[in-house]
Amino acid sequence: MYSENAVLDAIETKKRGDELSENTIHRAVEGYTSGEVPDYQMSALLMAIFIRGMDYEETLALTEAMAGSGERHSFPGCVDKHSTGGVGDKISLISLPIVAACGAPVAKLSGRGLGTTGGTIDKLESIPGFSFDLPEERMRKQVEEVGLAITEAGDLAPADRAIYALRDTTGTVDSLPLIGSSIVSKKAATGAGYLLYDVKSGSGAFMKTAGEARELADLLVRLSESLGIEASALITAMDEPLGSAVGNALEIHESVRFLQGEDSPADLSEKSRVVAARLLRLKGIQEPEDAVEGAISSGAAYEKFAEFVAAQGGDPKTLQNIPVSKEVREIVAPKAGYVVRLGALGVGRAALLLGAGREKKGDKIDPGAGVEVLVKAGDEVEEDQPVARLYGKRNAKRAEELVLEALKISGTPVQRPPVILGSL
Ligand code: URA
Repeated sequence: MYSENAVLDAIETKKRGDELSENTIHRAVEGYTSGEVPDYQMSALLMAIFIRGMDYEETLALTEAMAGSGERHSFPGCVDKHSTGGVGDKISLISLPIVAACGAPVAKLSGRGLGTTGGTIDKLESIPGFSFDLPEERMRKQVEEVGLAITEAGDLAPADRAIYALRDTTGTVDSLPLIGSSIVSKKAATGAGYLLYDVKSGSGAFMKTAGEARELADLLVRLSESLGIEASALITAMDEPLGSAVGNALEIHESVRFLQGEDSPADLSEKSRVVAARLLRLKGIQEPEDAVEGAISSGAAYEKFAEFVAAQGGDPKTLQNIPVSKEVREIVAPKAGYVVRLGALGVGRAALLLGAGREKKGDKIDPGAGVEVLVKAGDEVEEDQPVARLYGKRNAKRAEELVLEALKISGTPVQRPPVILGSL
């Protein structure tokens, strides 16, 4: 039993800026998860942490406490990746089948989308029949037989789920130690032995600057390594959507086209390859770039994706014709010039309003809704040239305004911005 006074002591300690002991952190997390610590006390403790911060030892103790708060899986030979969230981010859908086709087994934890950030689970659920009901034994069998399995958090790290929900309503989300411990606790509970973090930076990302993104990347890698996971990180741009599709079924179509060797937007193509090669390198596979090209050109990566879809209840024969909304509206450039940006935040917001995302947990999404962007920074456009297509019935007028507001055109040529900003 964790008494109210013990939590109060923890709040007082952190309020003064002093260090919380490992024992205090574990008991607070256990007490909150079991319902003994009330929301109002946990909120006060989180706000004290938000304001005063936590040192590395405290952050590691919080990560361990949350990772150990529920079931724990163990896939020490597997790779996993985590993206801090972006618009049109379908890199997992593309890079993981490539990696699995190259012989590195994947056991991945994924989440649902929230706000302008999409989630791999929502994307895959636009495939009829696809299921994430994957108890550990089934997941293990699928990893052995297919080499690729994706699960959702379920009973993994329940303390993080409860604490994250509280942070979401108490203004305590954007704290580096709380974000770092939240992400790594879930990954540690999933149990993969090799982890690549894709930390996004830019207007459409959680971390607005490359400096902030690097700080988070450093923390994620350090925490993972302290927990015995081999980890590395990329810092990547999120000022524009990745690729052209934003929205669940639209993103599955774009991923399938890529895996079938069709031409894809340059940013998507570069990043998918870099992420896949990095994952293979983490796992110790030699000449990973060649392996990646081989898996794409031979069709092995697409076959692996189809095998994975079938293993989780979907019918690979439907992959070419997953329905997208028939309500389509084209948006054209208001003037000629060079695209400075078609900003991720505005496009993500438009896709959300059209039905591709949810404003709050539990909102119902429209899997066929979204935005297709037809231009990128650096492209030259004519007046009235189509720049985007909107899919979906909901809020189409407002979505159109948002896309037009997100489009910036200059009279002078613009350089295409880099996709990969750094790595560690
Ligand atoms: N994603 C997470 O899983 N946790 C956070 O705290 C922020 C983003």
